[in-house]
Amino acid sequence: MLLLGTQRINEQGHLEIGGCDAVELARQFGTPLYVLDEATFRQNMRDYRRAFDKRYPRNEIAYAGKALLCMAVARIVAQEGYDLDVASAGELYTALKAGFPPEKVVFHGNNKSLFELHMAVQHGVGRIVVDNLLELEMLERVAAEAGKQVSILIRVTPGIDPHTHRFIRTGQADTKFGLNIRNGYALEGVRRALALPHLRVKGIHCHVGSQLLDTEAQERAVKIMVDFMHTLRKQLNYIVEELNIGGGLGIRYIESHQPPTFEEYAERIVGVLTQQLERRNLPYPTLLQEPGRALVGEAGVTLYTIGAIKQVPIHQPPGTRTYVAVDGGMSDNPRPQLYDAVYTALVANKANQPADTVVTIAGKHCETDILIRNVAIAQPEPGDILAVPSTGAYNYAMSSNYNRFPRPAMVLVNAGHAEVIVERETLDDLLAHDRIPERLRSEQPVMERA
Ligand SMILES: Cc1ncc(COP(=O)(O)O)c(C=O)c1O
Repeated sequence: MLLLGTQRINEQGHLEIGGCDAVELARQFGTPLYVLDEATFRQNMRDYRRAFDKRYPRNEIAYAGKALLCMAVARIVAQEGYDLDVASAGELYTALKAGFPPEKVVFHGNNKSLFELHMAVQHGVGRIVVDNLLELEMLERVAAEAGKQVSILIRVTPGIDPHTHRFIRTGQADTKFGLNIRNGYALEGVRRALALPHLRVKGIHCHVGSQLLDTEAQERAVKIMVDFMHTLRKQLNYIVEELNIGGGLGIRYIESHQPPTFEEYAERIVGVLTQQLERRNLPYPTLLQEPGRALVGEAGVTLYTIGAIKQVPIHQPPGTRTYVAVDGGMSDNPRPQLYDAVYTALVANKANQPADTVVTIAGKHCETDILIRNVAIAQPEPGDILAVPSTGAYNYAMSSNYNRFPRPAMVLVNAGHAEVIVERETLDDLLAHDRIPERLRSEQPVMERA
């Protein structure tokens, strides 16, 4: 059984998260329900930073808001003294409305609109990570119009293929992100940026991929980035002040996942970085990072109510499969469909009973919509509460209204208290943007049949 962070089994034999009984949470707030464990999220942020602060003199860590962002999360991130990585006007707006200091925001995106660039410049965002040459020109114009100097990083592609799902690999040469180091585009990008009067080039950025379960790809990226820093000094006489190596460290979705601990990760990354900097005789840059999943993923649990249970005959291998349907699915967690992501589950109201029944957890959408295949849980019955751990990252953030499902609520749990931080959408919320043109209001069809 995967019990993470503050999770434990209480005296009633129920799953407890952040001191709150999961069954009681489901009763009080309804299901599906996203539960975010504040203590685990904060502890992860502290432990991650401490692991690097112990080993490297200058660290600046941004939480990647794409993993999970709402105003309460932005407040927690601000209180922890982290920077915040945003990748759209919507994420930036959420941060600003939550009172997040704009100078601690890092703005990303491979196709930022003029509107987004204006918004970022107007609000004095701390760093804009420029992805391409068009953006460089657009940003120079926006900054000039605003009469401001804008600090930027240039996103480069180290040409590394990490061993992770193809949809969450970003550092390989064949990618839409950044400027390629190998074909000279990255060098050209930095050269052009240095000549633009309203842009201050602080350094370079890369991100190799997500859910990395070992450090190998990230270590190779660091080596390539330091080599590129060396090239920049040699070719352009430019010294990188800030090196951003993105995020990507993986988490435990199932028992067999064993990502490096924060300490192990920091040890390897800082080891390679300092060794390469010494080898190239380069001054130590500030090391910037932007982990998302590693900080918030294991702090999230989704609670569902079990409904229909079906047994169907299967031929390979011969036997029966038990489908256990829950009241959510790919609209609250599209990752199994998108990435073949794996999860485990437990019956929250039977957390002390043996997990002796192998079932397939089905969502309720009009697709195959399987959340988890072949997971062993306690004997399920309709009305039981199913808990799926490690749903803090890229679940709510990627949720949709498919089949016109209202999005679930999210509660923040801490020391036995639970507070709603995202309200459950209502059926009327689903209609809030629908409009019926006047001509469709009549009972009569107005189009001639062909
Ligand atoms: C540029 C960038 N930075 C940071 C992240 C965060 O990655 P993770 O949540 O795996 O740490 C991503 C994820 O896609 C990203 O694209």
